[in-house]
Amino acid sequence: MQVYTAKTGLIAHINKQKQPGLSLGFVPTMGALHQGHLSLVKAALSMNEYVVVSIFINPTQFNNPNDLIHYPRTLDKDVSLLKTLSKDSIVVYAPSSEDLYGSQIKSDCFDFDGLDLEMEGSSRPGHFDGVGTVVKRLFEIVRPDNAYFGEKDFQQLQIIKKMVAITKLPVKIIVCPTEREANGLAMSSRNARLSPAEFDASALIYKTLQYVKKQFNYESRQALSKWVVNQFSTHPLFELDYFQISEVESLAPIKKMSLHKSCRAFIAVNIGDVRLIDNIDLN
Ligand code: PAJ
Repeated sequence: MQVYTAKTGLIAHINKQKQPGLSLGFVPTMGALHQGHLSLVKAALSMNEYVVVSIFINPTQFNNPNDLIHYPRTLDKDVSLLKTLSKDSIVVYAPSSEDLYGSQIKSDCFDFDGLDLEMEGSSRPGHFDGVGTVVKRLFEIVRPDNAYFGEKDFQQLQIIKKMVAITKLPVKIIVCPTEREANGLAMSSRNARLSPAEFDASALIYKTLQYVKKQFNYESRQALSKWVVNQFSTHPLFELDYFQISEVESLAPIKKMSLHKSCRAFIAVNIGDVRLIDNIDLN
């Protein structure tokens, strides 16, 4: 499996393989790959002749320098995992910051129409400009036909769709469902930092979302929110950061329940120093 650390090598490789009628799939990641990431790669392999997986811990999307320093770096293991899916059809791009950003590591500014101000945006200022910047640069280098993103990070997905609409880059965004542990916890590279007791307790996050989905048509938004807050405020391990029911296009919190709008429930929870997010479709 080819692993490129410089865009010149990657671009030359892609140019050699590109032929009319063959499509290129792209899966951007920050590495520490797990089955959630691999489900995206499998989807890409099933729909495209060639697949590029990028592994880059993007400094501009971290607000907390400690988080950036401690983000797991497991390139060899990641490459071995990818090899189990295909040795010939996947190419890895694992660039340095300089290769993507040059000497100025900073974000572009986007107008995401308020999508960036909700939820993750309010607790992580600048985060989505960083995500938009790196994904735009990666798209410009890789020039994929299809790019794969997980529903697990639904707000990020909407931001990327908006970035593609703004920049008019010719790439199709393919949405992949959230892969979960047996107890329902959404797979995440952060789960490795949970103790066994914390891991078991974290089942509550998805259980809570499932309850909200079941009751969505029968209880008021306020009653559901109050119930969720109670679930976590009485729990010794958790601290609820936010719970929000939003309309999917704008991500703005819904004021009234409406059967006609597509709605989703979003949650972020701190367990020790690990921050976990999840969401569920309510319609
Ligand atoms: P990362 O957290 O590594 O995630 C890479 C991709 O994997 C994202 O599209 C994410 O939604 C998806 N993913 C993560 N956990 C998943 C799960 N349990 N099930 C399905 N898909 C899952 O998201 C990022 O990296 C970065 O922000 C990035 C887009 C690469 C830009 O730096």
